[in-house]
Amino acid sequence: MAITYLSKIPKKKLTGTAIVRVDFNGGLFRLEKAINTFKYLEKYADKIVVIGHKGRPTLPLNKKEKEELSLEFETKNLSRLLGGKVIFLDSIKLSENGNDIRRAPKKSIILLENLRFIKGEMENDEETGRILASLGDYYVNEAFAASHRENSSVCAMTKYIKSYAGFNFEEEIKNLSLVLKKAKKPIVLIFGGAKITSKTPVIMKFYNKADNILIGGALANTLLYLSGVKIGNSLAEKHVDSAVLRLLQMDKIHIPSDLRKSGNKILDIGPKTEVEFKNYIKGAKTIIWNGPIGMFEKKGFEIGTKSIAKVIADTKAFTVVGGGETIEAIRKFKLEKKYDFVSTGGGAMLEFLAGDKLPGIKALEK
Ligand code: 3PG
Repeated sequence: MAITYLSKIPKKKLTGTAIVRVDFNGGLFRLEKAINTFKYLEKYADKIVVIGHKGRPTLPLNKKEKEELSLEFETKNLSRLLGGKVIFLDSIKLSENGNDIRRAPKKSIILLENLRFIKGEMENDEETGRILASLGDYYVNEAFAASHRENSSVCAMTKYIKSYAGFNFEEEIKNLSLVLKKAKKPIVLIFGGAKITSKTPVIMKFYNKADNILIGGALANTLLYLSGVKIGNSLAEKHVDSAVLRLLQMDKIHIPSDLRKSGNKILDIGPKTEVEFKNYIKGAKTIIWNGPIGMFEKKGFEIGTKSIAKVIADTKAFTVVGGGETIEAIRKFKLEKKYDFVSTGGGAMLEFLAGDKLPGIKALEK
C-alpha cells in the first residue's frame, strides 16, 4: 500500500471543500511550510477548512487554557500568510461547524478551534473522526509533525474521506527516507529539550544505529540527577522508569561534564562540554539534532545551543534538524538555511528515523 500524495491527484478532482490538517505548535515555521499546499488548493478547491491543534490542554477545559490555546489568535497569522480573510469558527460542536461551513461563500478559508478542546480528538475516537470527515470532500494532511500521534484528525477521520499527503508532508517523507536508507556512519545524535520519559524509547531505538548520542538541556539534568549530581532547582524529571536509568549505563551516551548555572539552576552546558560535544560532531558523517541544549531564550544561556548549532551548520556531514524549539533556536541564530534538511517534525521526525511506521502515514496508505 502506498501513500496518496496530493501532488499526484488530478486537479479536476480537487473541487469541493478541502480539509487541511496543520500543526499550530512551534511558531510560524510549520504554517509557512504548509503554504504551497494552501496556495495550490486555493486555486482548485471551492472552500478550505483548516483544522489543527496547539498545546496539550487538559479536559474539561479551563478558562485559562481555553484563552491561551485558542486558535483564534492564529487567524491573523493564517490570513497574513495566505493574503486573504480567514473565518474563525469558535464552536467546538463540530456539527454546528458543518452548517457554518456549508453556508460560507465560495473560496472561503475557514479555521476551526483547537481540536484538542474536543474530548474524542486525542483518543482517536471514531465518531469524532467521522464528523470531522463530514465537514469536507477530501482531506489533506499537512501536519507531519503530528503524524506520530493517533488522534482522530490524523488517523480515524481518514477512514471516512479521501485522504492525501500535502506537499510538505511528501517532502518530509522523501528527505527522511533518504536519511533512513543512506545515513553514513559515524552517526551522531543530539538530543535536548525537556522530557526524558518521552524521548527514552526513541533513544533506545536509535542506540544500535548511532555511534554517539549527545544529551543536553533538561534531559541531561534528569540523567545528572539520577547519577547523583546535585542539580538544585533545575528542571528535571525526578520520577522515571527503569528504561531511563538504563541510559546511564550505555557507553555511547554522553552527558555534560560541566554546566552553566543561574543560582542553583542549570541553564546550559559548560565550556568543557561544548568542546567535547563539538569533537563528536566534527567526526560525524550524519548528524540528527532535536531539542535545545540549554535555555537559549535567556540571555547568557544561549551559548551552548548556539555553538552546537554553528558547529553542526559548518560540518560537511549530512545534517538533519527538527522540532519546534530547535527551529526557533536556529531561526534566532539565523542558521536555518545552513542544514541539509530542516524537518517540521520533532517527535515525528525522530520516530520516523528510528524506523517506526507513523500512525499518520499508515492512515494515508490506501
Ligand atoms: C509537536 O509539537 O511535536 C506536535 O505538535 C505534537 O504535539 P504533542 O507532543 O503535544 O502531541
